[in-house]
Amino acid sequence: MTDNSVTPVTRIAVLVGSLRPDSLNRRVAELLVDRAPEGVVLQIVDGLAEVPFYDERLDAETVPAPAARLRQTVAAADAVLAVTPEYNGTMPAVLNNAIDWLSRPYGQGAITRKPFGVLGTTPTPYGGKWAHEDAVRSAGIAGAVAVDGGIVSQSALEVDVLADDEVIDRFLSVVQALAAHQPVAA
Ligand SMILES: Cc1cc2nc3c(=O)[nH]c(=O)nc-3n(C[C@H](O)[C@H](O)[C@H](O)COP(=O)(O)O)c2cc1C
Repeated sequence: MTDNSVTPVTRIAVLVGSLRPDSLNRRVAELLVDRAPEGVVLQIVDGLAEVPFYDERLDAETVPAPAARLRQTVAAADAVLAVTPEYNGTMPAVLNNAIDWLSRPYGQGAITRKPFGVLGTTPTPYGGKWAHEDAVRSAGIAGAVAVDGGIVSQSALEVDVLADDEVIDRFLSVVQALAAHQPVAA
């Protein structure tokens, strides 16, 4: 007998908080795209640098195309993962700006009710933990749902975060936590 059942796919939109082409965090995000568990598809949201700073005057009937694309990509995803370094003790402005666009209209933004996780790495002992805590808090206020086990802050001081299997497993645990999260009813 043929099994016609289709395994559901969890689509995770990935917001990268660094714009550098050589960004370590972007490379981590790319690695996770390649290593995503079966049934999970990660899509890095490109074009964040083109999204203008949030301004309520721009958030009209027609919004700037890069902001509209960001909203559409996240709206079509099942969950959101931020992969980000830390700038001056918090998340980089590019990530904060993306969350702001995704938070509106209030209560109906593209991030509303989406499971949210964050991971990242910095060359300090703390691995960007303040940025990650702030990203979860901000996304939560924006309407997302922080998942249990949804934060991993990894120091890059004494380990090659792109090659160390234990580190990669820690990163993947956030992806798994997002994929395991039950959808939140509207
Ligand atoms: C403007 C700026 C502020 C930074 N502030 C912090 C910080 O507060 N904490 C930290 O761990 N690293 C900080 N760093 C170092 C970054 O973590 C480091 O440059 C990291 O490699 C950037 O990530 P990327 O490789 O993904 O671009 C800062 C870097 C810049 C450019």
